[in-house]
Amino acid sequence: MKTRITELLGIEHPIIQGGMHYVGLAELAAAVSNAGGLGIITGLTQRTPELLAKEIARCREMTDKPFGVNLTFLPSVTPPDYPGYVKAIIEGGVKVVETAGNNPQKWLPALKEAGVKVIHKCTSVRYALKAEAIGCDAVSVDGFECGGHPGEDDVPNFILLPRAAEALKIPFVASGGMADGRSLVAALALGAEGMNMGTRFIATQEAPVHENVKQAIVAASELDTRLVMRPLRNTERVLNNAAVERLIEKERALGANIKFEDILPEVAGVYPRIMQEGAMDAGAWSCGMVAGLINDVPTVKDLIDRIMAQAHEIIAQRLARIDAMRV
Ligand SMILES: Cc1cc2nc3c(=O)[nH]c(=O)nc-3n(C[C@H](O)[C@H](O)[C@H](O)COP(=O)(O)O)c2cc1C
Repeated sequence: MKTRITELLGIEHPIIQGGMHYVGLAELAAAVSNAGGLGIITGLTQRTPELLAKEIARCREMTDKPFGVNLTFLPSVTPPDYPGYVKAIIEGGVKVVETAGNNPQKWLPALKEAGVKVIHKCTSVRYALKAEAIGCDAVSVDGFECGGHPGEDDVPNFILLPRAAEALKIPFVASGGMADGRSLVAALALGAEGMNMGTRFIATQEAPVHENVKQAIVAASELDTRLVMRPLRNTERVLNNAAVERLIEKERALGANIKFEDILPEVAGVYPRIMQEGAMDAGAWSCGMVAGLINDVPTVKDLIDRIMAQAHEIIAQRLARIDAMRV
């Protein structure tokens, strides 16, 4: 399949693996790129720019295909060493960066000069237009269904994607709720040039996370995610568990007076315990509603091959047959 995204990124299939904290390590990024998609290393999971440089080198040993790095710009009192991370990306020869969170404008000149393509992930049309105006090459449009941070507008992809198509000139991929060939064809029909998946890629053989995480996703239905941190305007979609229930109870009890410090035990530093140790109730971790469509743990290659085969089947058989019945 050729789309503006496969051409822009130099990949075979219009499928991107979104950055995921403590999931997007070299093993997963390389597996996705080797299967013809675009794998992405999560920058901030590496505690220092030096460690990111090593992770990029490790990924390069596992694939000779293009892969990217995610840079998430979070509001924080002591920000990470972003200039150092940008330098590690450029010196590591990475040609695609997925930015997320705050406006990436400050980092664009250095990235552009180094020939890096920037895909900004955003949750609304107005942010997508801003990304286009400041010179991003593409956007990843994250609907309300998505795992992680869906923003505060709550617009699902059936509305958000066609709105993005109406408004944008740069290419965009659909993100949030994407799982299979049906998702890909729907995304293309709504105007996207491909799709970005997070949760689906966690439940794969190569995802370097504890088996408990993969089984939790397989066991979950579309009813099992919760939105947390809305009172802090930092809404996150997570898989429900004992810690999330405690967190929601605190939100209920403290109302508008809640502060980030009140929920620290449920959210701070919990990712290594969940993703590496498999301590599934250790805290809140991002997961999409798409868990309801995930029933197995295939290899990344089998997953991507299956998505492409199903997409072709839907377009060339099902849709062609329906269209042929026009009177
Ligand atoms: C466990 C997990 C961790 C994530 N961490 C990040 C992150 O660090 N930075 C980021 O930009 N997006 C992060 N995301 C969001 C994904 O990149 C992607 O946008 C989202 O998962 C798409 O929705 P889906 O899960 O329905 O496919 C994370 C998602 C998950 C499930």
